[in-house]
Amino acid sequence: MSKEKIALAYSGGLDTSVMIKWLKDKYDAEIVAVTGNLGQQKEIENLESKAYSTGASAFRFVDLRKTFVEEYIWKALKAGALYEDVYPLATALGRPLLAKALVDVALEENCTMLAHGCTGKGNDQVRFEVTFASLAPHLKMLAPLREWEFTSREAEIAYALEHNIPVSATKKSPYSIDENIWGISIECGVLEDPMVAPPEDAYQITTSPEKAPDSASVVEIAFEAGVPVSLDGKPMGGLEMIMKLNDIGAANGVGRLDMIENRVVGIKSREIYEAPAATILHFAHRELERLTLEKTVFQYKKNISQDYANIIYNGTWFSPMRKALDAFVDETQKPVTGLVRLKLYKGTVSLLGRNSPNSLYNEELATYTEADTFNHKAAAGFIHLYGLGLKTFSEVNPGL
Ligand code: ARG
Repeated sequence: MSKEKIALAYSGGLDTSVMIKWLKDKYDAEIVAVTGNLGQQKEIENLESKAYSTGASAFRFVDLRKTFVEEYIWKALKAGALYEDVYPLATALGRPLLAKALVDVALEENCTMLAHGCTGKGNDQVRFEVTFASLAPHLKMLAPLREWEFTSREAEIAYALEHNIPVSATKKSPYSIDENIWGISIECGVLEDPMVAPPEDAYQITTSPEKAPDSASVVEIAFEAGVPVSLDGKPMGGLEMIMKLNDIGAANGVGRLDMIENRVVGIKSREIYEAPAATILHFAHRELERLTLEKTVFQYKKNISQDYANIIYNGTWFSPMRKALDAFVDETQKPVTGLVRLKLYKGTVSLLGRNSPNSLYNEELATYTEADTFNHKAAAGFIHLYGLGLKTFSEVNPGL
């Protein structure tokens, strides 16, 4: 019988390194290690040689950054997707794309199984496996962390040393960190006590608001149909825009979030996020919507934002529901074109101004000066009919 072949979502960390050897032995399989680039800064170099020296028979590095921005992040931004009103969903948005990349490689390489390095109590296992099930239901899924014998990091290190698996000499951070261009997720260590304020060393990219410059940074972001297209008057691709806003935002202490969230698997967890660009862009986009969306669309879309965020968080990106909501969102975004001017200052984002060729703000109607064109007399008849139902009810039911 031919050997099994397993495509493994590989990060180069201890877990997925040990996993290469463990899977090889357990399934008598060849391992194809697959790493996706979602714009993370850490340890992208040397991954290939590391994978081979750990026992992989093939290594694939897939640059997903452009797809991530254009097909995932912009959709979430247009939808206004913030999980439980706070989390811009960086990790959650990246998983279906990584899972899809893994499936694509697995199909090209004739793999029979898919494996990931997620734990058994997190959301990410759900996102990976639900995506696998929708894109390649015939492939077997493996989640070694839910099954293997290691109960501690020390046990894994001992196994690694015994099998000549290179263990990184650098001291491991006390935190569990997941990173991509849309944001960084940080948990574990002292952060597990929700009453403990995050120590400065938990933050990876942002300056603390206290140490941020005393003078504000001003940015101008132009949107076309809900998508940011230029920064400070300079037309810019999405990737560059997000990287620039991450830098400017981080320098001003913008984008730190501290959240107790409801996980898919039924527990509450505490996570710290750093998402400067996401914080700035969601804020700017929402302000432009206030100016350009018709009232009922603006108010109704709030519900859609919440549903959309749940879809991303809960791992059902590849679903007819997400596509249906995209159609709604895209329709709403047609007039969301214009300019937003913002001030970034010591951890805050505030609005300096906004304009749009599709602005629904009409100064002649809004003004309290002589220039007013609003028909004040028409208000009386409007209010009479508008309040008629309540007036009738009170007359029939006095005191109710
Ligand atoms: N709580 C976030 C989510 O479920 C991030 C999960 C990964 N976090 C981490 N620190 N490794 O999307």
